Amino acid sequence: MCGIVGYTGEQEAMPIIFEGLKRLEYRGYDSAGIATLDQRDRIELRRSVGKLYNLEQILKKSPMTGHVGIGHTRWATHGKPSDVNAHPHVSMHGEVVVIHNGIIENFLPLRQELEDKGYRFVSETDTEVLPHMIEDYTRQGMTLTEAVRATLHRIKGAAAIATMSIHEPGTLVAARIANAGGVVVGYGDGEMFLASDIPAILQHTRSVVYLNPAEVVTITQHGAIYTDLAGNPLTKHPTTVAWDPVSAAKGGYKHFMEKEIYEQPVALTDTIRGRVDLPNNRVLLESANLDAETVRGLSRVISVGMGTSRHAAMVAKYLIEELAGIPTESEVASEFRYRNPYVGPNTLFLAYTQSGETVDVLEAMAEAKRKGARIVGIINVVGSEASRQSDGVVYLQSGPEIAVASTKTFVCSLVDSALLALYLGQQRGTISEERMRQLLNAINALPTLASQVLDDSPANRAMYEALARKYAGASNFLHLGRGIEYPIALEGALKLKEISYIHAEGFAAGEMKHGAIALIDANLPSVVIAPMDSIHAKMISSIEQIRARDGKVIAIATEGDEEIRDKADDVIYIPATDPLLVPVLATLPLQLLAYHIAVRRGADVDQPRNLAKSVTVE
Ligand code: G6P
Repeated sequence: MCGIVGYTGEQEAMPIIFEGLKRLEYRGYDSAGIATLDQRDRIELRRSVGKLYNLEQILKKSPMTGHVGIGHTRWATHGKPSDVNAHPHVSMHGEVVVIHNGIIENFLPLRQELEDKGYRFVSETDTEVLPHMIEDYTRQGMTLTEAVRATLHRIKGAAAIATMSIHEPGTLVAARIANAGGVVVGYGDGEMFLASDIPAILQHTRSVVYLNPAEVVTITQHGAIYTDLAGNPLTKHPTTVAWDPVSAAKGGYKHFMEKEIYEQPVALTDTIRGRVDLPNNRVLLESANLDAETVRGLSRVISVGMGTSRHAAMVAKYLIEELAGIPTESEVASEFRYRNPYVGPNTLFLAYTQSGETVDVLEAMAEAKRKGARIVGIINVVGSEASRQSDGVVYLQSGPEIAVASTKTFVCSLVDSALLALYLGQQRGTISEERMRQLLNAINALPTLASQVLDDSPANRAMYEALARKYAGASNFLHLGRGIEYPIALEGALKLKEISYIHAEGFAAGEMKHGAIALIDANLPSVVIAPMDSIHAKMISSIEQIRARDGKVIAIATEGDEEIRDKADDVIYIPATDPLLVPVLATLPLQLLAYHIAVRRGADVDQPRNLAKSVTVE
C-alpha cells in the first residue's frame, strides 16, 4: 500500500506533503521521499529508506523550498529497500520527476528501448522507465499531460502515477490505469491537493474528485482538467466527503469487506513487488530464511492453517509438488496438534495465518518445532506471535484487513505460496528457466487481470446484483472444483456460509457422485469452477450431471469459453492465466457472489454472527 501526496498553491509544499505522508504512516513502510520544484524551477529531491522519521531528519538538515511538489511512501516490501530505489524518481536530464504505484509488466523491453536511446538507469525499479519515457516525449515537444498519456499507452500493467516537469512549473499530472491504488484530487482556495487516500489531505479540504481507471488529471493551483487516455475531455464535479473516521476508512464503500475485495489488485501488487526479479529470472524471498542447502535437504513439507488460511495451505500442496517436487501434505492445524504426527528434521512446516495469532496454528507450530521441523510462517501481521515463532517468514503484505471474512489476505497467501514454491524449485533445480520466466510473467500480470475481474462498473455490479436476486433465496449451495480448484471450491463455500448464513459445501467434483448428487434438485444451486484446462471436459460433464437433475449451475469459466454458456444457467468469466494461478482469479467472483448475496439477505457482512477475526482462545 504505497502512499502518494501532492500539492500546488501559494504555500510551501514540503510541510503539507510531509504532514500528508505522516497521516498514511499507519501503513508502515520501508522508504519515503519528497520532490519539489524550487523558486528557480529546479527539482529538489529528498529520499530515505526506513521510517518517515529518517526523512524528517534529512529535511531538518537540508530543508526544501517550492510551492509545488509530490511525496511518496512505500509499503514494506522486503525487497531491497535503498535510497536509490526510493520514489520519487527523476529522469536522466533532471526535467521530470515521477511517483508510481503498481507494476510495469513490460518494463524489460521498455528499459532496453530507452537504454538504446542513451538513457541511463540508476535504480533497479520498473518505475524508472516512467520519468525517462515522459522526459523523452516532452523533449519531442509534447506537454507533460500528453507525454503522460503517450507513456501510459506504452506500459502494460496497473498503475497510479503522479508527476511534474521543470518546463511546466506549478502543474501536477496524475493518472490511473487499471487498479493499483487510488488517486484523489482535493480542491482548496487557490491551491490544489493530490493523494492516494483521503486522510492525507482531509485537514485541508473535503471537496474531492476520485480518478477512475484510464483517467488523467492536470492540476494547477486554480483547478483541474480531466481527460481520458485518448485526450478527450471529461467533466467531473467535486463531491464533499462526510467526515467520520469509520466511513472515511471505508473509502466510499458500503462495507470493509467490499473495500477489501476491491483492494485486491493493489494488495497483489504489494505482495509481488520486490519478490519477482524479472531481469535475473528468479524469486527473491530472503525473509523465508531458507538457504540452498536446507532446501535441497528437504524431504517433506507440511502446510497447516485454519479456516480460509487452511484453504491457502491446501493450494500450497499443488504448487510445491508441481514446481519443487517435494512431497507435501496439508492439514487443519487443530487436527495436527492433537495427534502424534510424524515430523522429521528434514520437514518444512508452513504455518498459514494472516493474523499470526490463531491459537491452533501457534500450537501446531510449537509441536512441529519440538519435533525438529523448520518453521516458515505465511503471515500478514508483522511482529505477531507466529512471526516470532517462525524460523523464516513470508509476509503477505496485504495491508490491514478489517472485515472478519478474509479476502485480500487469502489471494495474497495464494501468490506467496506460488512464489515460495518457485523459490524452492529454483534452489532444487526442478524448474526450467523457461517455465520460471512464464510463471514470473504470469504472476506479474495478476494485478491487472484481477482488476479486470473486479471491474467496478455499473454493468458488472448489475450482473452480481442480478445473480444475488436470483439465488439469495436458496437454503443450500454446492461449490465444486477439481485439482488446484478444489480448495477454491471450499473457500467459495466458506465465504458464502460465513457472511450470508446459507448452508454451503465445497466438494471435489469427482466426489459429487458419491453422495452430494442425492441432494440435487431445482432448489439447489451449484457453483462450478470450470476453467479452460486439462480437466475442463470433466467439469463440463459434472455440470451436465447437475443439469440432468434440474439443478441450477453458476459456472466460473475462462473468457472465450462459449461452449459453457449452453451448459450452465449463469456464467461468470475470468481472464486466462497459467493453470497454477487460476485459483487467484477464480476466488474473486466467489467473493463477490457471496458478498452480494449476503447484502441482499440483509446480513451484517463485516461482522457475521458468532465469528471472530482471529480465534485466540481454545
Ligand atoms: C477466523 C477468521 C477467518 C480466518 C481464520 C484463520 O476463523 O474468521 O477469516 O481465516 O480465523 O485466521 P488466521 O489469522 O490464522 O489466518
